[in-house]
Amino acid sequence: MQIYLIGFMGTGKSTVAKELKKLSQRRVVDTDALIEQTYQMTIADMFRELGEDTFRARESEILRKVSQGEEVIVSCGGGIVKLQENIDCMKQYGKVVWLQASPGSILSRIKEDESRPLLQGKKKEEAIQEMMKQREAFYQKAADYKVVTDGKTPAKIAKEISQILTL
Ligand code: S3P
Repeated sequence: MQIYLIGFMGTGKSTVAKELKKLSQRRVVDTDALIEQTYQMTIADMFRELGEDTFRARESEILRKVSQGEEVIVSCGGGIVKLQENIDCMKQYGKVVWLQASPGSILSRIKEDESRPLLQGKKKEEAIQEMMKQREAFYQKAADYKVVTDGKTPAKIAKEISQILTL
């Protein structure tokens, strides 16, 4: 069974995945990092030069490949839930954990960040709230479990997940 961490940009998926690794025998696979490594290109350049659709096609392909491999913790790009085929894939191969955070705590995490093309020019709490609203139903549809992260350390969140999944 695979473990997928999903959630909006800046909810701490990568950090929590690292903590969860300590509590399990699993490796962490980060879909964004794997896409960058496979295509030797940053996500920002991919969006700029090839467009979001190409990025999404690559993301789906990577997700499917990873899902069929050894059991790992998959830290997913925030937009992975936009395609139904990705939701179907995650449902088929494992359990999906949704990390949820408030727009305020997301903003404080991503404010210095230039690597996320979809946040450029949107580093305001209202803009983030608006984007989150558009994504909410997708996360809801994909998730087996929802974990609220506000006010919790990554270690605490990982512990919670390991208990939910009885790792
Ligand atoms: C995206 C989230 C990013 C990355 C890309 C698009 C999104 O991943 O995949 O910039 O559509 O929400 P993180 O959630 O890891 O920032």
